[in-house]
Amino acid sequence: NEIKIFSPATVANVACGFDVLGFCLDSIGDEMVIRKIDKKGIYITKIEGFDLPFETELNVAGVSALAMYEAVKPECGFEIEIYKNIKPGSGIGSSAASAVGSVFGMNELLGRPYNKTELTQFAIKGEALASKCEHADNLAPAIFGGFTLVKSISPLEILEIPSPEDLYATIIHPQIEVKTSEARAILPKEVPLQDAISQWANFGSLIHGLHTSDYNVIQKSLHDVIVEPYRSQLIPYYKEVKEASLDHGALGAGISGSGPSIFTLSKGLENAKSVKDAMNKVYSETGITFEIHVTKIN
Ligand code: HSE
Repeated sequence: NEIKIFSPATVANVACGFDVLGFCLDSIGDEMVIRKIDKKGIYITKIEGFDLPFETELNVAGVSALAMYEAVKPECGFEIEIYKNIKPGSGIGSSAASAVGSVFGMNELLGRPYNKTELTQFAIKGEALASKCEHADNLAPAIFGGFTLVKSISPLEILEIPSPEDLYATIIHPQIEVKTSEARAILPKEVPLQDAISQWANFGSLIHGLHTSDYNVIQKSLHDVIVEPYRSQLIPYYKEVKEASLDHGALGAGISGSGPSIFTLSKGLENAKSVKDAMNKVYSETGITFEIHVTKIN
């Protein structure tokens, strides 16, 4: 009547796929314990790692759990313990990991009444509490793994995109907080047609590159002409990290989600590690504390 789960971190947007594309970081994430209890209701009983609210309605994991609970109306309740490793506001899907973990665990304990898309639908409610808007580009990869494309939010449609065999991500997380709601507020409401054309050309070719494992096409597609110019200003040494990464073998680089984390994609572990060293060199000289992760994308 209890399940312990790992809820992974994720990278949303992936340069040209704002609000629709994301991938899963298999080796970074939170742990959660979900327990079935006799008393009805959803209760957050333990939170370790970061200071987050225990009130169910104010906690991202609680809100998504409630959405599912109200749909199922079971004769039991659930306790949720959260062991948070992903710093809130880090840009690698901290709120999404919480939102997904509770519904995934409850679904297992209830005998899997829901499929992955339906779980994502419940998790959207939790994610919306954090980012003040409904989007699923961090949620979908946390639930499905690998790369996912959120084709539509209403109705929710998610496509799984294959990952090339040798694709690795290197992520640097400067220890400063950027609130997703604020990073969204600075974006323009309208974009010039020419920028839109560049963006969807890159996006389409990135998806093609992922399907055909064409690293050259992936490299040429990892550009963001719409969001990066605004949000990069919120990230110290963004330009320097990006340039150093590209000089050391990265296929491309961009802002992870709403930042401040910066992601790169590389072909092969050796390149991904060289990028790590290059990022390390740039940030070591800044006085800002940071973490760097290298992970294969499955
Ligand atoms: N697509 C979202 C954004 C991801 O960039 O605002 C962060 O939650």
